[in-house]
Parts: sequence; structure tokens; C-alpha cells
Amino acid sequence: MQPYYQYSLDALHALESWNETGFIDETVSPPAPRADTHLTQEQTQDFFSSRRSVRNFDPNRKPDTDLLLEAAELATNTPSVCNRQASRLHLFTDRDEILRILSLQNGNSGFAETIPALGVVTVRRGLFTGAGERNQRWIDGGLFAMTFVWSLHALGLNTCMLNWSMTNKPTEKLRSVAGIDPEEDVIVLIAIGYGAEAHRVARSERRSVSEVVRLR
Ligand SMILES: Cc1cc2nc3c(=O)[nH]c(=O)nc-3n(C[C@H](O)[C@H](O)[C@H](O)COP(=O)(O)O)c2cc1C
Repeated sequence: MQPYYQYSLDALHALESWNETGFIDETVSPPAPRADTHLTQEQTQDFFSSRRSVRNFDPNRKPDTDLLLEAAELATNTPSVCNRQASRLHLFTDRDEILRILSLQNGNSGFAETIPALGVVTVRRGLFTGAGERNQRWIDGGLFAMTFVWSLHALGLNTCMLNWSMTNKPTEKLRSVAGIDPEEDVIVLIAIGYGAEAHRVARSERRSVSEVVRLR
């Protein structure tokens, strides 16, 4: 059974106890985790500047399923609107299935055959409501996808996000081929694996901070 009913009961009890006695229940309001620096400046630089999209994987080096699940668990730390956690991750490691899915995507030519694992990030549409939340699922799903990619990077895996900016028809086809529920909108696909020996990456120059930031 899903634990959400119990979470709600805990919250109600905590509220009652706060109103009656002023006692702060640690179950629903735990002390904040430490917020001081986790990595040195050098480690931080290295971590963020060493992720690059990889388009040449070692096809014979399949990522361990436990490692993929560990990255997925890390990605559950992603913030989401009202903590709704609407994102879902579909993981594929079967080569034929991966190639069937990738035949529907338009940005993998030349390296599809090398991809040993594939993630499809989706968002459950039913967790959003009204015109005001029309775009929220793309934001929450995008944030989850990015955290997942950083988590994989931290665990030593390489990735390449693969866009799914598609209309309804190809999306329906993808749902049918990948067994994705009609209630889920597709955010992005993610190629996962280990880069082939001595693989190269695209230069992908960055805009300067002054071009990106407007500091007032
Ligand atoms: C949402 C999204 C979709 C992307 N789709 C593709 C794609 O279909 N094919 C591809 O080769 N790269 C794709 N990329 C990778 C980008 O080209 C890449 O992130 C960008 O050039 C910066 O390079 P870097 O990731 O190596 O820093 C995508 C990236 C994002 C964020």
C-alpha cells in the first residue's frame, strides 16, 4: 500500500500537537541537513566541467542495473512543484528494444548502435491541473532529467540527452513501442553507457557568464 495516507495522518497529528502545545514534530519538520560546502572548489569545478554529452559508447560495457537504480534514487532528491514528484523514469537495457525506440527519435544517427542503456523520462500529466500549470510538467520533468544525468556522471557513467520535442502522433507510437502509459508525457530520452576507449566529444563552447547573467 502507498504510504501517503500515513504521511497525511502524521501531518495532521503534527499540526494538532503544534496548535495545542507548540511542540515541533521532528517527523514532519526534521532539522535541516548540513548546508556547508560538500566539495572543495577544485572538485566542484572538475565535477561540473567534466560532464559532456557522449555520442560514442562502448557497446559491450553495459551499465550495472544497480548503478542505474542508484542514480535514479539520487535523482529522486530533485525538487518538484508542491513536492508532487510527477516524474517517471523508464529504463531499457535490451539492445533490440533500445534500437526500436531510437528509430523513432531524430538525434541519434551514427551512434544508436553503440548505446547500451536508455532512459525515457516522463511526467504523469494527471498530477497537474488548470491552465496555470500547463507548462509545469516540462519544468519538473526537465529538472528530474538533469539531476539524473548529474547522478550518472557522479557514478562514472556517460550520457547524451536525446530530445523528444515531438507532436502527438510520434509520441503515441513511442508510448506503444516503449510500453508507456497514455497518462505520461515524454520529456526527454537519455542515452547511457561508458564512452568507448579514447572517445572524443564535441567542443560545445560555453557562453561567458557576463552574457548569461544580468547582475543588478
Ligand atoms: C533536452 C536536450 C535534448 C538533446 N537532444 C539531443 C539529440 O537528440 N541528439 C544529440 O546528439 N544531442 C542532444 N542533446 C545534447 C546537446 O547537443 C548538448 O547537451 C549540447 O550541445 C551541449 O554539449 P554538452 O552536453 O557536451 O555540454 C540534447 C540536450 C538536451 C538538453
